[in-house]
Amino acid sequence: MQEVLVFIMAEDLRSQRAYLRFETKTHQDYGVQPHMYENLLLAVRDTVKEILGAHWSEDYELAWSGRLDTLLQEISDAWPED
Ligand code: HEM
Repeated sequence: MQEVLVFIMAEDLRSQRAYLRFETKTHQDYGVQPHMYENLLLAVRDTVKEILGAHWSEDYELAWSGRLDTLLQEISDAWPED
């Protein structure tokens, strides 16, 4: 979870790109499928949203969906061919 939060909160995601590609490859060997990343990342977002309650805002919604879309695109691009 610590590494998941680093990817979500990194100010400059480019500095994390090599590590994200590395983990995507190792995770394929664990049997992880691409859609599982989406489930995990959306669950983290929904948990934060629920905890913030009325403090959640449109700005947060946009920021989260922008970052999660970028991460999922990076994971998809890094997904090794069988
Ligand atoms: C961006 C998302 C994720 C990050 C940053 C992440 C990070 C990590 C890290 C740091 C490890 C420790 C070993 C290693 O470096 O390979 C690990 C292991 C593992 N992860 Fe993830 N993970 C992510 C997503 C997922 C997802 C979506 C699944 C499946 C639902 C998953 C399943 C596993 C499994 C099965 C292991 C091996 C556990 C073991 O054998 O001890 N991970 N992950």
